[in-house]
Amino acid sequence: MKRIVYIAVLLLINSAYAQTIKSPSGILSLNFSINPEGVPAYQLLYGKEFIVKESALGLEFSDQHSFVRNFSVVKIDSSAVDESWNPVWGEVKTIRNNCRELAVTLKQTDVNNRIIIIRFRLFNDGLGFRYEFPMQDNLNYFTIADELTQFNLAKDHTAFWIPGDYDSNEYYYTKTRLSGIDATIGKEVTEISVRSIIGKNYVQTPLMMRSDDGFYINIFEAALVNYPAMHLKVDQSNFILTSQLVPDAVGNKAYMQTPCNTPWRTIIVSKNATDILASKLILNLNEPSKIEDTSWINPMKYIGIWWEMHVGKSSWNYADVNNVNLSLTDWNGLKPNGKHGATTENTKRYIDFAAEHGFDGVLIEGWNVGWEDWFGKWKENVFDFVTPYPDFDLAGLSEYAALKNVKLIMHHETSASATNYERRMDDAYSLMKKFGYPAVKTGYVGKIIPRGEFHDGQWMVNHYVHVAQKLAENKLMLNAHESVRPTGLSRTYPNWLACEAARGNEFNAWSVGNPPEHETILPFTRLLGGPMDYTPGIFQIKMNYYNSGKKEQVHTTLAKQLALYLTMYSPLQMAADLPENYEKHLDAFQFIKDVPADWDDSKYLEAEPGDYITVARKAKGKNDWFIGAVTDENSRSANIDLSFLDKDKIYSATIYADADDAHWEKNPMAYRIFTKRVISKDILKIKLAEGGGCAVSIRPL
Ligand code: NOJ
Ligand code: CA
Repeated sequence: MKRIVYIAVLLLINSAYAQTIKSPSGILSLNFSINPEGVPAYQLLYGKEFIVKESALGLEFSDQHSFVRNFSVVKIDSSAVDESWNPVWGEVKTIRNNCRELAVTLKQTDVNNRIIIIRFRLFNDGLGFRYEFPMQDNLNYFTIADELTQFNLAKDHTAFWIPGDYDSNEYYYTKTRLSGIDATIGKEVTEISVRSIIGKNYVQTPLMMRSDDGFYINIFEAALVNYPAMHLKVDQSNFILTSQLVPDAVGNKAYMQTPCNTPWRTIIVSKNATDILASKLILNLNEPSKIEDTSWINPMKYIGIWWEMHVGKSSWNYADVNNVNLSLTDWNGLKPNGKHGATTENTKRYIDFAAEHGFDGVLIEGWNVGWEDWFGKWKENVFDFVTPYPDFDLAGLSEYAALKNVKLIMHHETSASATNYERRMDDAYSLMKKFGYPAVKTGYVGKIIPRGEFHDGQWMVNHYVHVAQKLAENKLMLNAHESVRPTGLSRTYPNWLACEAARGNEFNAWSVGNPPEHETILPFTRLLGGPMDYTPGIFQIKMNYYNSGKKEQVHTTLAKQLALYLTMYSPLQMAADLPENYEKHLDAFQFIKDVPADWDDSKYLEAEPGDYITVARKAKGKNDWFIGAVTDENSRSANIDLSFLDKDKIYSATIYADADDAHWEKNPMAYRIFTKRVISKDILKIKLAEGGGCAVSIRPL
């Protein structure tokens, strides 16, 4: 690691003050200043163009004098970092962390000389900054009422936004100018279990924007720990965004004790959309792994007893009764409804299928008692996470899976009762270890308990991290659904393989679904913080297959479902459809069997948020390449420049493309598969249907 401290100036200036640093390549500049009232501010420039104009920094406290004005500079530290590190799993083998740092120590002379440090890290592709509160005599405990961080964009950019909501991020995106945002339209999305929309002009981060002069700008945060998530309030006349933190049950935002700091506030910027997708800024701003021995952490591809419940073929619950009680109900005495999905027999069927087709794991939902009335009652003790239903042979199945060399993936739906989960997690994790389950999918459907807390507030943020830590102590891996969206913490806790924390494929089974452009936006927003358990691979696109009255459908072609294994990076990838649906399309299924979940390299070849993405990835430790291209509701040609291939090799490419007459709505399951010899000089041109995509696997001959 190279870390050079090249300036350390000690000064005390009471009047206006300014300081500039440049990114390593010189393309970005950060100006820090203090105005005559002692208010700290920053600006971000790309060359000579303002990306963020003068924007104030500060915090309001609910129990003491604010951190807003009357600051003077005590000390400025500058340094440069240029180092590389290897993630445990990821899109690339090695990540370079190359930035300039400016740490400004400020003193509030009128309030007991209280001190704050504002630390900036300027990369070639963006800026991160955070507030740090060192240990000091006059600032010990404090309660944050509001963070007043501004992002003064000064222009009416095009934005890809979802409503600011303290509880849910399961929305599809709307594209408007900043002036056109109306987040209350989210109220009409009725399928989301719990929603707490803030108001008309509030949106969530990551917020992806495009300027009329060709900049791609993304505002987000990194390393969210012991603090609430940051949404944004949009001033729709002046285009100034201000941080809006998720409150707690009594209206405060965060409880702090020095020494402490906020998460990093981030602005990623480039003239190329592909650079936003390839950015490692968020990961670089997170702490290195806290887990020393990571040998037990493995990317996984899995299938599961899951989609069959979402399409209504089977149920999570064992009996159809509407009042059960963990300690009173005689589970063996209940009358089975005949539709239960997680039976011993059905689980064996999935284990057999996983073994036959080389999948690492099988997720089983609905194995444990409590699903009869799990939702909508704000009930504290719904699940105990240890008692199987009478028709699920926990011990026998773990032996059966071990014999077949398949791992079982545990499911802990908490029904948002985090208190209940925390009380029972030790027993739950012991049970997982006893029966050889290496990973758990958690879920938080419903209103949070402790009552009054939100999914994205400080209390729950601490809960999710606690779960990841506890699992790490037990050498177990995590996939969290309905959690706060990730902010790069998988670097610190690499056992935290994935989260949902966005609108996943499941919405296509039982709601108006995800519009065809959805998967061309998620990588520019949600995925910047870490992998998503999107659950791709649905082959049976229309739900009337299960029930003739159903109008729901997946809003993609079948070939696009294959492409998602590339464009939606995750070390945990599900083949989400039913075994019997894959059996009908074994030729296309071959791609899901072949595609890895871990990579040595990734090249974003072409991209435009809301329109299309093409990415090529090199399999970990191999010379095989895989490519995925997706488009929105418009048909287009993917132009895949193969110059990343070795110059001296000949390769065989297998192309899984939309058929000529494919269309996400009219003819979604029409695909064609063909093989071609390719070399590095080739450019593959492949037609993507409306709502379509293509997947390619390339092997050296
Ligand atoms: C919502 C999750 O996203 C989904 O995957 C799961 O099947 C249900 N909750 C039940 O826990
Ligand atoms: Ca969900």
